[in-house]
Amino acid sequence: MTPGSVNTGGDASPPQNSGERSGQRPSLYSLRNVVKEFDGPGEKVCVLQGLNLDIQEGDSAAVVGASGSGKSTLLHILGTLAEPGAGELSFRGTNMRTLDAGAKARLRNESIGFIFQFHHLLPEFTTLENVAMQAVIGGCSMQAALDRAADMLERVGLAGRARFAVGLLSGGERQRAAIARALMQDPVVLLADEPTGNLDEKNGMLVAELLARLNAEQGTAVVVATHNPELAGRMARRFELKSGELYEQSR
Ligand SMILES: Nc1ncnc2c1ncn2[C@@H]1O[C@H](COP(=O)(O)OP(=O)(O)O)[C@@H](O)[C@H]1O
Ligand SMILES: [Mg+2]
Repeated sequence: MTPGSVNTGGDASPPQNSGERSGQRPSLYSLRNVVKEFDGPGEKVCVLQGLNLDIQEGDSAAVVGASGSGKSTLLHILGTLAEPGAGELSFRGTNMRTLDAGAKARLRNESIGFIFQFHHLLPEFTTLENVAMQAVIGGCSMQAALDRAADMLERVGLAGRARFAVGLLSGGERQRAAIARALMQDPVVLLADEPTGNLDEKNGMLVAELLARLNAEQGTAVVVATHNPELAGRMARRFELKSGELYEQSR
Protein backbone atom coordinates (compact mmCIF):
# COMPACT_ATOMS: atom_id res chain seq x y z
CA MET A 1 0.00 0.00 0.00
CA THR A 2 1.16 3.48 -0.71
CA PRO A 3 1.08 6.09 2.05
CA GLY A 4 -2.41 7.42 2.53
CA SER A 5 -4.10 4.69 0.55
CA VAL A 6 -7.01 2.77 1.96
CA ASN A 7 -6.98 -0.99 2.06
CA THR A 8 -10.37 -2.02 0.77
CA GLY A 9 -9.48 -5.71 0.95
CA GLY A 10 -9.97 -6.29 -2.75
CA ASP A 11 -9.33 -4.96 -6.20
CA ALA A 12 -8.98 -1.24 -6.42
CA SER A 13 -12.15 0.21 -7.82
CA PRO A 14 -12.25 3.40 -9.82
CA PRO A 15 -13.05 6.53 -7.87
CA GLN A 16 -16.69 7.47 -7.92
CA ASN A 17 -18.42 10.74 -7.35
CA SER A 18 -21.68 9.70 -5.86
CA GLY A 19 -21.38 11.23 -2.43
CA GLU A 20 -19.79 10.54 0.87
CA ARG A 21 -20.91 6.90 1.11
CA SER A 22 -19.22 5.73 -2.06
CA GLY A 23 -15.69 4.49 -2.59
CA GLN A 24 -15.62 1.73 0.03
CA ARG A 25 -17.91 -0.87 -1.45
CA PRO A 26 -18.17 -2.20 -5.00
CA SER A 27 -20.73 -0.77 -7.35
CA LEU A 28 -24.08 -2.53 -7.48
CA TYR A 29 -25.86 -0.24 -9.93
CA SER A 30 -24.54 2.45 -12.16
CA LEU A 31 -27.01 4.29 -14.39
CA ARG A 32 -25.87 6.90 -16.86
CA ASN A 33 -28.21 9.17 -18.83
CA VAL A 34 -31.00 6.63 -18.73
CA VAL A 35 -33.97 7.61 -20.86
CA LYS A 36 -37.29 5.78 -20.96
CA GLU A 37 -40.21 6.80 -23.13
CA PHE A 38 -43.53 5.12 -23.81
CA ASP A 39 -45.72 5.52 -26.86
CA GLY A 40 -48.88 7.21 -25.67
CA PRO A 41 -51.95 7.87 -27.79
CA GLY A 42 -50.70 10.55 -30.13
CA GLU A 43 -47.54 11.60 -28.33
CA LYS A 44 -44.65 9.99 -26.49
CA VAL A 45 -44.64 9.89 -22.69
CA CYS A 46 -41.10 10.73 -21.50
CA VAL A 47 -40.78 9.11 -18.09
CA LEU A 48 -37.04 8.98 -17.36
CA GLN A 49 -35.08 11.80 -18.94
CA GLY A 50 -31.36 11.29 -18.57
CA LEU A 51 -31.30 9.76 -15.13
CA ASN A 52 -28.05 9.01 -13.25
CA LEU A 53 -27.71 6.80 -10.20
CA ASP A 54 -24.93 5.03 -8.28
CA ILE A 55 -25.78 2.42 -5.69
CA GLN A 56 -23.16 0.38 -3.86
CA GLU A 57 -23.49 -3.20 -2.65
CA GLY A 58 -25.24 -3.25 0.71
CA ASP A 59 -26.84 0.18 0.22
CA SER A 60 -30.40 0.90 1.18
CA ALA A 61 -32.25 3.52 -0.83
CA ALA A 62 -35.75 4.93 -1.02
CA VAL A 63 -37.15 6.45 -4.19
CA VAL A 64 -40.00 8.82 -3.49
CA GLY A 65 -41.99 10.88 -5.97
CA ALA A 66 -45.50 11.69 -7.07
CA SER A 67 -47.69 9.02 -8.56
CA GLY A 68 -46.79 8.71 -12.23
CA SER A 69 -43.29 10.13 -11.73
CA GLY A 70 -41.70 6.89 -12.94
CA LYS A 71 -40.80 4.98 -9.78
CA SER A 72 -42.12 1.64 -11.04
CA THR A 73 -40.51 2.23 -14.42
CA LEU A 74 -37.17 2.80 -12.70
CA LEU A 75 -37.53 -0.37 -10.60
CA HIS A 76 -38.37 -2.38 -13.71
CA ILE A 77 -35.20 -1.11 -15.32
CA LEU A 78 -33.15 -1.90 -12.18
CA GLY A 79 -34.70 -5.37 -12.23
CA THR A 80 -33.77 -5.82 -15.92
CA LEU A 81 -37.47 -6.36 -16.64
CA ALA A 82 -37.40 -3.33 -18.95
CA GLU A 83 -34.60 -1.83 -20.99
CA PRO A 84 -33.65 1.81 -21.07
CA GLY A 85 -34.48 3.46 -24.39
CA ALA A 86 -31.13 5.20 -24.21
CA GLY A 87 -28.29 5.39 -21.71
CA GLU A 88 -26.39 2.72 -19.83
CA LEU A 89 -27.17 0.43 -16.93
CA SER A 90 -24.43 -1.56 -15.24
CA PHE A 91 -25.10 -4.18 -12.59
CA ARG A 92 -22.04 -5.23 -10.54
CA GLY A 93 -19.82 -3.73 -13.21
CA THR A 94 -21.43 -5.48 -16.19
CA ASN A 95 -23.12 -3.33 -18.80
CA MET A 96 -26.54 -4.89 -19.35
CA ARG A 97 -26.30 -4.22 -23.08
CA THR A 98 -23.59 -6.90 -23.30
CA LEU A 99 -25.96 -9.65 -22.03
CA ASP A 100 -28.49 -11.51 -24.15
CA ALA A 101 -32.00 -12.23 -22.86
CA GLY A 102 -31.03 -15.62 -21.40
CA ALA A 103 -28.06 -14.25 -19.48
CA LYS A 104 -30.19 -11.41 -18.18
CA ALA A 105 -32.88 -13.82 -17.00
CA ARG A 106 -30.24 -15.89 -15.17
CA LEU A 107 -28.80 -12.81 -13.52
CA ARG A 108 -32.30 -11.74 -12.48
CA ASN A 109 -33.16 -15.14 -11.01
CA GLU A 110 -29.89 -15.46 -9.14
CA SER A 111 -29.30 -11.95 -7.91
CA ILE A 112 -32.48 -9.89 -7.73
CA GLY A 113 -35.45 -10.33 -5.40
CA PHE A 114 -38.72 -8.57 -6.22
CA ILE A 115 -41.41 -7.43 -3.83
CA PHE A 116 -44.50 -5.79 -5.29
CA GLN A 117 -47.42 -3.90 -3.84
CA PHE A 118 -49.64 -6.86 -4.62
CA HIS A 119 -48.04 -9.99 -3.28
CA HIS A 120 -49.02 -12.40 -6.13
CA LEU A 121 -49.19 -15.36 -3.78
CA LEU A 122 -51.55 -18.25 -4.56
CA PRO A 123 -54.25 -18.30 -1.86
CA GLU A 124 -55.01 -22.03 -1.99
CA PHE A 125 -51.42 -23.10 -1.36
CA THR A 126 -49.74 -22.97 2.03
CA THR A 127 -47.37 -20.17 2.93
CA LEU A 128 -44.48 -22.65 2.85
CA GLU A 129 -45.46 -23.92 -0.62
CA ASN A 130 -45.83 -20.39 -1.96
CA VAL A 131 -42.36 -19.45 -0.78
CA ALA A 132 -40.81 -22.67 -2.11
CA MET A 133 -42.64 -22.80 -5.47
CA GLN A 134 -40.41 -20.65 -7.64
CA ALA A 135 -37.29 -22.53 -6.52
CA VAL A 136 -38.93 -25.86 -7.44
CA ILE A 137 -39.92 -24.51 -10.85
CA GLY A 138 -36.31 -23.35 -11.20
CA GLY A 139 -35.07 -26.92 -10.75
CA CYS A 140 -34.43 -27.15 -7.00
CA SER A 141 -35.50 -30.42 -5.34
CA MET A 142 -38.80 -30.23 -3.46
CA GLN A 143 -37.25 -31.08 -0.09
CA ALA A 144 -34.40 -28.59 -0.42
CA ALA A 145 -36.81 -25.86 -1.48
CA LEU A 146 -39.19 -26.57 1.42
CA ASP A 147 -36.32 -26.62 3.90
CA ARG A 148 -34.99 -23.32 2.68
CA ALA A 149 -38.49 -21.83 2.54
CA ALA A 150 -38.96 -22.79 6.21
CA ASP A 151 -35.72 -20.96 7.06
CA MET A 152 -36.84 -17.89 5.14
CA LEU A 153 -40.22 -17.86 6.89
CA GLU A 154 -38.39 -17.99 10.19
CA ARG A 155 -36.28 -15.04 9.10
CA VAL A 156 -39.37 -12.90 8.43
CA GLY A 157 -41.10 -13.99 11.63
CA LEU A 158 -43.68 -16.24 9.99
CA ALA A 159 -42.56 -19.72 11.04
CA GLY A 160 -45.89 -20.15 12.85
CA ARG A 161 -47.83 -19.60 9.60
CA ALA A 162 -45.91 -22.02 7.34
CA ARG A 163 -48.75 -24.52 7.05
CA PHE A 164 -51.59 -22.01 6.77
CA ALA A 165 -53.22 -21.47 3.39
CA VAL A 166 -52.14 -18.03 2.24
CA GLY A 167 -55.81 -17.06 1.96
CA LEU A 168 -55.95 -17.15 5.77
CA LEU A 169 -53.06 -14.72 6.31
CA SER A 170 -53.43 -11.04 7.09
CA GLY A 171 -52.21 -8.46 4.56
CA GLY A 172 -49.05 -7.82 6.56
CA GLU A 173 -48.30 -11.52 6.85
CA ARG A 174 -48.76 -11.98 3.11
CA GLN A 175 -46.31 -9.21 2.39
CA ARG A 176 -43.78 -10.78 4.78
CA ALA A 177 -44.33 -14.10 2.97
CA ALA A 178 -43.61 -12.30 -0.32
CA ILE A 179 -40.38 -11.01 1.22
CA ALA A 180 -39.47 -14.56 2.31
CA ARG A 181 -40.07 -15.70 -1.27
CA ALA A 182 -37.84 -12.92 -2.60
CA LEU A 183 -35.07 -14.08 -0.23
CA MET A 184 -35.04 -17.68 -1.50
CA GLN A 185 -32.17 -17.19 -3.96
CA ASP A 186 -30.15 -15.13 -1.47
CA PRO A 187 -30.36 -12.07 -3.75
CA VAL A 188 -27.78 -9.29 -3.85
CA VAL A 189 -30.57 -6.74 -3.95
CA LEU A 190 -34.24 -6.55 -3.05
CA LEU A 191 -36.33 -4.28 -5.27
CA ALA A 192 -39.57 -3.35 -3.55
CA ASP A 193 -42.31 -1.39 -5.32
CA GLU A 194 -44.57 0.27 -2.74
CA PRO A 195 -44.35 -2.78 -0.47
CA THR A 196 -46.43 -1.12 2.26
CA GLY A 197 -48.94 0.47 -0.14
CA ASN A 198 -51.75 -1.90 0.84
CA LEU A 199 -50.97 -2.21 4.54
CA ASP A 200 -52.25 -0.41 7.60
CA GLU A 201 -49.82 1.65 9.63
CA LYS A 202 -48.79 -1.09 12.04
CA ASN A 203 -48.17 -3.70 9.35
CA GLY A 204 -46.43 -1.11 7.19
CA MET A 205 -44.10 -0.45 10.09
CA LEU A 206 -43.35 -4.17 10.52
CA VAL A 207 -42.48 -4.52 6.83
CA ALA A 208 -40.31 -1.37 6.98
CA GLU A 209 -38.48 -2.76 10.02
CA LEU A 210 -38.00 -6.11 8.33
CA LEU A 211 -36.49 -4.62 5.16
CA ALA A 212 -34.16 -2.44 7.25
CA ARG A 213 -33.11 -5.45 9.33
CA LEU A 214 -32.42 -7.65 6.28
CA ASN A 215 -30.26 -4.86 4.91
CA ALA A 216 -28.37 -4.37 8.18
CA GLU A 217 -27.93 -8.02 9.14
CA GLN A 218 -27.40 -9.71 5.79
CA GLY A 219 -26.02 -6.83 3.79
CA THR A 220 -28.70 -7.35 1.13
CA ALA A 221 -29.06 -4.08 -0.75
CA VAL A 222 -32.59 -2.69 -0.75
CA VAL A 223 -34.17 -0.23 -3.18
CA VAL A 224 -37.75 0.72 -2.39
CA ALA A 225 -40.21 2.92 -4.21
CA THR A 226 -42.53 4.25 -1.57
CA HIS A 227 -44.92 6.94 -0.37
CA ASN A 228 -44.43 5.79 3.21
CA PRO A 229 -42.26 8.24 5.21
CA GLU A 230 -41.61 5.58 7.86
CA LEU A 231 -40.17 3.19 5.28
CA ALA A 232 -38.24 5.92 3.43
CA GLY A 233 -36.82 7.06 6.77
CA ARG A 234 -35.35 3.64 7.44
CA MET A 235 -33.30 3.63 4.24
CA ALA A 236 -29.79 5.08 4.39
CA ARG A 237 -30.28 7.09 1.20
CA ARG A 238 -33.28 8.88 -0.17
CA PHE A 239 -33.91 10.04 -3.73
CA GLU A 240 -36.73 12.06 -5.19
CA LEU A 241 -37.81 11.25 -8.75
CA LYS A 242 -38.99 14.47 -10.35
CA SER A 243 -39.32 15.48 -14.00
CA GLY A 244 -37.59 12.29 -15.07
CA GLU A 245 -34.47 12.82 -12.95
CA LEU A 246 -33.32 11.64 -9.53
CA TYR A 247 -32.31 14.07 -6.81
CA GLU A 248 -30.55 12.67 -3.76
CA GLN A 249 -31.75 14.31 -0.60
CA SER A 250 -29.22 14.93 2.13
CA ARG A 251 -30.35 13.98 5.60
N1 LIG B 1 -46.22 0.35 -20.56
C1 LIG B 1 -46.53 1.67 -20.57
N2 LIG B 1 -47.05 2.27 -21.66
C2 LIG B 1 -47.35 3.58 -21.67
N3 LIG B 1 -47.17 4.40 -20.62
C3 LIG B 1 -46.66 3.86 -19.50
C4 LIG B 1 -46.33 2.47 -19.39
N4 LIG B 1 -45.84 2.24 -18.16
C5 LIG B 1 -45.87 3.41 -17.52
N5 LIG B 1 -46.37 4.39 -18.31
C6 LIG B 1 -46.53 5.81 -17.93
O1 LIG B 1 -45.31 6.24 -17.39
C7 LIG B 1 -45.51 7.12 -16.31
C8 LIG B 1 -44.76 6.61 -15.08
O2 LIG B 1 -45.37 5.44 -14.62
P1 LIG B 1 -44.85 4.64 -13.33
O3 LIG B 1 -43.43 4.28 -13.54
O4 LIG B 1 -45.80 3.52 -13.12
O5 LIG B 1 -44.96 5.75 -12.19
P2 LIG B 1 -45.04 5.59 -10.60
O6 LIG B 1 -44.64 4.20 -10.25
O7 LIG B 1 -44.11 6.64 -10.05
O8 LIG B 1 -46.46 5.90 -10.21
C9 LIG B 1 -47.00 7.23 -16.12
O9 LIG B 1 -47.41 8.42 -16.75
C10 LIG B 1 -47.53 6.02 -16.83
O10 LIG B 1 -48.81 6.26 -17.32
MG1 LIG C 1 -45.63 2.67 -9.27
